[in-house]
Amino acid sequence: GRPVGITGIGMYVPERVLTNQDLERIVDTSDEWIVTRTGIRERRIAGPEESTFTMALAASRQALEMAGVRPEEIDLIVVGTVTPDMIFPSTAALLQEALGASRAAAVDISAACPGFVYGITLAGQTIASGLYRTVLVVGAETLSRITDYQDRNTCVLFGDAAGAAVLQPVREGYGLLASILGSDGSGAEHLYLPGGGSRHPASHETVDKRMHYIRMNGKEVFKFAVRVMNESTVQVLEEAGHTVADLDLLVPHQANIRIIEAAVERLGIPWEKVVVNLDRYGNTSTATIPVALYEALQAGRIRDGDLLVLVSFGAGLVWGATALRW
Ligand code: ACO
Repeated sequence: GRPVGITGIGMYVPERVLTNQDLERIVDTSDEWIVTRTGIRERRIAGPEESTFTMALAASRQALEMAGVRPEEIDLIVVGTVTPDMIFPSTAALLQEALGASRAAAVDISAACPGFVYGITLAGQTIASGLYRTVLVVGAETLSRITDYQDRNTCVLFGDAAGAAVLQPVREGYGLLASILGSDGSGAEHLYLPGGGSRHPASHETVDKRMHYIRMNGKEVFKFAVRVMNESTVQVLEEAGHTVADLDLLVPHQANIRIIEAAVERLGIPWEKVVVNLDRYGNTSTATIPVALYEALQAGRIRDGDLLVLVSFGAGLVWGATALRW
């Protein structure tokens, strides 16, 4: 198909900062524990007027501006999120109206943290096939609204943010080179949110049992994450006709510095080639990769022609990796 690449990128984070010291006052934890076990120092928390949609809108406007794209040019809007504003309509439809993207189709993708990688992979194909020319892919989350601030095992990990990317046809040899997506539903029990769906619809009981919050088996997710981050990176580079030695920049899902360290060690790549910002934002699920990509670009860490790998994992359990030539 026709080559597809990222021609614009944007991000948004709320102003309010929640530090490890703040968390020490809420649950039985310490800055020292959080930093050594996760690498996280602070995260952003959405204000009362903010939601996944409002953050997605701000990030999208920035991405469209960088790409030089008018809203009417957008053919498709894809939002990867596990915290949509409502179960329906989709957050993508809200975004379509607010942007004035009058011609665009709109859909949300539920693929947990790899929602952005799933989004660019699937939506990229609509351009590669010739169906569409301009697609907006967003990763946006208000995880603070599904985080249990009485559970120290999870509440120290998560934050709120949005990132957005414009996909368009690019020069031959550039853009998305290869992608792999995977799922192992046998691990569904390790990371889930039980309440509010058709199995356990919202009721006084689900609220009393705190079923509207993330539940996680951290150890199992950790082991899975280290394995797939390493394997998917190697595999996607191979499918793109490259080896790890060719890689210029790894943009990993930002969940825990120890997961990134373990993967980087196995891959044998130097730290200068790895983007890390989880110390400032924590885990923002689908937003981590587009936000990290935006910051790396702004910092001058991505040059024309660089070979990048974006790699992510999350609830499902699912994973995804994309190799791209910038
Ligand atoms: N402060 C102090 N102590 C804590 C805290 C805390 N915030 N959280 C847990 N502990 C305690 C535990 O209770 C446990 O105590 P115990 O031994 O008395 O029971 C002890 O610390 C050690 O717990 P471990 O589970 O061994 O800690 P571990 O080193 O595995 O780190 C962590 C836990 C950070 C959750 C880690 O397992 C992890 O990051 N896992 C991956 C999670 C992840 O990436 N999830 C997101 C996936 S993406 C998505 O879809 C949103």
